[in-house]
Parts: sequence; C-alpha cells; structure tokens
Amino acid sequence: LITDRVEESMALARVLALWGASSVVDLSDAPTMSKRPLRLILSDVDLSKRESVEALRAALAECRVPGTPYLCLMRETSPRSTMQANVLGATGILDVGAPVPVLLDRIGQMLLSATGRELDEREARMQQHFAQASVALGDMLAAAAEGKALPVAAIDVSVASINRAADEVDLGGWLDMVWNHDDLTYQHCLLVAGLAAAFARQLGFPEEARKLLTCAAVLHDIGKAKIPTAILHKPGSLTPAELSIVRAHPRLGYEMLRDQGSFARDIVEVAHRHHEYLDGTGYPQGLKGNEISDVVRMITICDIYAALIERRSYKAPMAPQAAYQTLLGMGGKLDADLLRAFRAVVLSDCAEEARAASA
Ligand SMILES: [Fe+2]
Ligand SMILES: [Fe+2]
Repeated sequence: LITDRVEESMALARVLALWGASSVVDLSDAPTMSKRPLRLILSDVDLSKRESVEALRAALAECRVPGTPYLCLMRETSPRSTMQANVLGATGILDVGAPVPVLLDRIGQMLLSATGRELDEREARMQQHFAQASVALGDMLAAAAEGKALPVAAIDVSVASINRAADEVDLGGWLDMVWNHDDLTYQHCLLVAGLAAAFARQLGFPEEARKLLTCAAVLHDIGKAKIPTAILHKPGSLTPAELSIVRAHPRLGYEMLRDQGSFARDIVEVAHRHHEYLDGTGYPQGLKGNEISDVVRMITICDIYAALIERRSYKAPMAPQAAYQTLLGMGGKLDADLLRAFRAVVLSDCAEEARAASA
C-alpha cells in the first residue's frame, strides 16, 4: 500500500490482513522499494497534486512487476483523476470512501483474476459474506481489546454473514478464505464460527438456533482479547506460567459477557465452558456430563477440530480425516452422538470423493 498519509493508511492495512500480509510504504520512501513479486499494489495518494502523481509514477515503475494488479484509491472521482489513474496503469479504481467490505471484496476479486480465474456467482456471494463478517469481527475484537462494550450490532452482522455463507454449502471455500487471513485471532474465530454454522445447518437447526450457535462460536474465545498476543501466538510450547495466563481466557470471557448483560445464557456458558470435557478432565471448573450443555459440547468439538487443522509456522496442519480421527480418539471427553453428526460437516468432501472413486 503506497500512501501519502501513513497514519490513516495503517487502519486500512489492518483490514487488508483479510487477504494476507501487507505493508504500508510512505510515498516519499517508495523509490527505495525494490522490484519484487507482490500479489497486489494499492495506492492512496492525492492525485490532484502534480508532484504526488510524479512520485507515484516513479514508485510504481520501481516496484511493479508487469502483470501485478494495481488498485488506485481515489480521493475524488473527477474525470481528471480517473484519467490520471488510468495513465498510471491502474487495473482497478475505487473511491477511497467506499465501505470497507466493498473494498475488501474488490481486492479479493482482483487477487483472484490475477490468477486467471473469475469468481462464479456463488463464490462471489461467499466472498462478500466473508468480507462483511471479517470487518464486523474487527469491530468486535477492537472493542474487546480496549475494554469497551462489545458492539452487538456488528456481532449480529458477522453472525448473519457467516450463516449465509454456510447456506452456500461449501465449507472448503470458506476455509480457503480463512487461510488467507494474516491475523491468527480472526482466523481462529472465523474458522470455529464457520464450522459451527455448518454444523447447525447440517443438523437442520431453525434459524434462531443457528444464530445462537454461530454467535456462541464467534464469542467463544473473546476472553483472549485480554491476553497479551505475545503469549497467545507464541510459537511452540508455553511455560507453566504462560499456560496459566492463557487458561484464564474462559473466565475472562465469561465475566466480559456476563457483565455486559445482553447475551443469551448459552452464549455466556460457551465462553466459560468450551474447554470442559464430559469426563471431568477439562478446565476451568472440571465440570462433568450433564453439567455441560449441548451448545457447549458442539462448540468444543468445532474448537478442537479447528485447532487441529489450523496452519501455524511451528506445526503442520492436520488433514481433515486425521483431525476427525483425533477427535474420535478422545473417547469419553466429547459427545459421541454429536461427533458422529459432525463427520458429515467436515468430511463431506471426502465422502463425495470416495463415492466418485468407487463409481
Ligand atoms: Fe478457548
Ligand atoms: Fe478457541
């Protein structure tokens, strides 16, 4: 992202994490950039200033490999600026004031068409739901980190988007988008919520129950917002002291949701109890059997499965089949009936492949 206003652009760079790692370059430093393969170049520069246009032209000449998509953000959409953008070789032009989900969606399309593919209608809808959910989650996580009240309206938007994405059936498509995300907290949240939404759909839940389950998934780890990211995302194993800090997140999340007072009991319980196991070996309370609700049991399954298939620098992700086997191997810790139902959620592709192979 080449910009002549670094401060403002940092916020933009944060939402760009949705499509992978990004970096912000001050227009005045741009000439020092070297040519390297970039997936996409963005500029947020005042094109009404002649010297800025010249500096941008020089910067692009410096860093842009032919064929790299370039989205030019416009401060004003006069014919003159549009012409400037075209002369600069923009492959896309967008008003800088466009809503963030629109911007993210546009970038998603440009990244994809650079690979020579176009989205079909269903994928395009999925991508819009994904962008919308991520932006809303950003509002939620920022509020949680700052100790402010959680924005209920934003949470509703993300829940609705995730459920509508689940209606498109394709969990694989959702996962592909999730893996792009450069922020591990969002990634986990979107992953568990996508799994929960697919699970609720698979079980034929009515809309209200689907909302509840997806919302519980979105909020299950909200307590982690109070834990330093250096500990949370530390590669490799944690010291006992660090582990006990991380293990405080169910209680922290529970207190946060309880104190706000506007969340359904099931949702508050999920934040508190999603690390409990039916055999009493979980934490923080060591609850057992019917002390643990069905909603909690479902999110626990989604959460563990998500952790197994997640991609981290320090561990290889598990394939769906192996991850599911691992859940089965946990025996009495998880609900056997729910786990059986979960199979169709995560292994439907495998089942289809097997069917196709035997045919
Ligand atoms: Fe957790
Ligand atoms: Fe989690």
